[in-house]
Amino acid sequence: MERDAKLYGDLSKVLVTREEILAAVKKLGQQITADYQGKTPVVIGILKGAVVFYSDLIREIDLPLRTDFMALSSYGSATKTTGVVKVLKDLDRDIVGQDVLIVEDIVDSGMTLSYLKKMLADRGAASIRIVTLLDKPARRRVDLKADYFCFIIPDEFVVGYGLDYDEKYRNIPDIGVLHPRIYSGE
Ligand code: IMP
Ligand code: MG
Repeated sequence: MERDAKLYGDLSKVLVTREEILAAVKKLGQQITADYQGKTPVVIGILKGAVVFYSDLIREIDLPLRTDFMALSSYGSATKTTGVVKVLKDLDRDIVGQDVLIVEDIVDSGMTLSYLKKMLADRGAASIRIVTLLDKPARRRVDLKADYFCFIIPDEFVVGYGLDYDEKYRNIPDIGVLHPRIYSGE
């Protein structure tokens, strides 16, 4: 797809190209493969933002693994979270004694994942690690570290490669900065 195509019209710039993403995802898959030798992790994708990343990542993990998904909603506006998390779709199977990898699109305040990590620990997972495509450490409000990440990004609102604004832009193959005019109501 051309980067001056219609889909890119609301971006102020492309931050990470699809080529850079695929190279990073491949490297991450190899690292997880090495770290989980002899194990069968349960890889949990967080709907919907992580689905594009998730589908590329699991194909780079050369291990037996199980898939599952959760949908969470954090109350707040489209560009800010409040930390109150509601489970919209729960796991299909229990995770007692399982090695869990949580796959998320972006860690921003860290509140969503910190809540989820506690919840899955309470359910008796043997281990829990967090995998994120993007990390925005400047906005962290709780002490939460991703165990694996692809890119650290500045404090800007990004879309594409699964990430949305108002359910749009998830199908852009690159990661770009959304032009502020889109959410400032200009
Ligand atoms: P937090 O870490 O609890 O603040 O929330 C992370 C969630 O907020 C992510 O899963 C995204 O859905 C959303 N989010 C945070 N920053 C961005 C962004 O720059 N673009 C799109 N979604 C974002
Ligand atoms: Mg999300």
